[in-house]
Amino acid sequence: MLDLIDIVVGTRPNFVKAAALIHELNRKKKGLWKFNYRIVHTGQHYDDNLSNVFFSQLGIPEPDVNLSVGSGSQAKQTADIMVAYENLLFEKKSSLCVVFGDVNSTVAAALVAKKMLIKVAHIEAGIRSRDQTMPEEINRIVTDSITDYFFTTTEQASTNLRESGVAADRVFFVGNTMIDTLLTNVARFSKPVFFDSLKLLEKKYILLTLHRPANVDDPIKLAKILNTIMQAANGIPILFVVHPRTRHTINSISTVPSAIKMVEAQPYLNFNFLLKNAHVVISDSGGVSEEATVLDVPCLTMRNSTERPETVVQGTNELVGDDEGALIDALHKIHSGNWKSGVVPKLWDGKAAKRICEILETLKF
Ligand code: UD1
Repeated sequence: MLDLIDIVVGTRPNFVKAAALIHELNRKKKGLWKFNYRIVHTGQHYDDNLSNVFFSQLGIPEPDVNLSVGSGSQAKQTADIMVAYENLLFEKKSSLCVVFGDVNSTVAAALVAKKMLIKVAHIEAGIRSRDQTMPEEINRIVTDSITDYFFTTTEQASTNLRESGVAADRVFFVGNTMIDTLLTNVARFSKPVFFDSLKLLEKKYILLTLHRPANVDDPIKLAKILNTIMQAANGIPILFVVHPRTRHTINSISTVPSAIKMVEAQPYLNFNFLLKNAHVVISDSGGVSEEATVLDVPCLTMRNSTERPETVVQGTNELVGDDEGALIDALHKIHSGNWKSGVVPKLWDGKAAKRICEILETLKF
């Protein structure tokens, strides 16, 4: 019997990170590979444009299991995933549970697996923002406190783990599977149908995405952010790609400035077309700051901290928090062509998943 690896995913960024690993596992399966895998979708994201379309565009096989937990409070969503995943493991136990990133699905699956004496591998382990007001930072810390095998995207992440007492022989600096997926697909990026009808021109629009509760849950704050961006846009059109969470708040804002064109959450190939061709991206996403760095697109992150400091130190990203002045100054700099160019961080070379599989073959679980 082949050992069974669970690949647990639940949200949009998980699908992007897992895609590269799944493709590599498929390649390995054609040889003398000693593992089988099962894709477990928790159902944390369930809208077509946050979930199904990512599977189809990235060529990921249908999940073997969908736990269909849906939305809920932090505790309810995490607890629902735990109960459902535990039931699955009661039916059929796996030998290794692979989790990705920092979402509720990540921590929930890791906790369940570990208590059932299943080894846990964490991809994108060790990154830290040191801001525990965000659920993702708590998810990172808790997941890494029980992970057996740590796969990191940067040397800094490996250092963070070793400094927290993790034995060095369980930490593997492999690079970034989200960038594997980006580099594999860059030639397939595809212009969304609305691009021409909205009269967007390459490098002549501001791309905006916001979904963090701190930015989008309060309509007054969100309206203020939108007004500031509009005022500093210098007449350049703003394309706002709206996450469903943000849509709830937008619906309660009476007037969104007309210079801001809003579209629904975009499929992977379309979103990355928009990112690659943007004059600047303004976002509160960590993943987008990594992709912008590799695509050499100026990026302004509306957060006060980042778990991905290399995107600032080496890349095209700057943190502007919710400081209006900082946002305006940065936009002026970008408009006048004075932005830094990005250096691609070490091992963000499209081969992280390959390295992970080679290491998995040597591990005992
Ligand atoms: C989650 C992750 C966040 C990640 C983001 C990417 C956590 C704690 N947060 O945030 O780190 O950056 O995914 O998108 O895990 N909703 C829908 N349809 C869906 C999913 C969600 O309409 O398919 C709406 C619901 O109103 C839901 C809200 O979005 O209540 C929040 O969804 P949730 O998955 O809890 O968190 P995200 O904000 O998406």
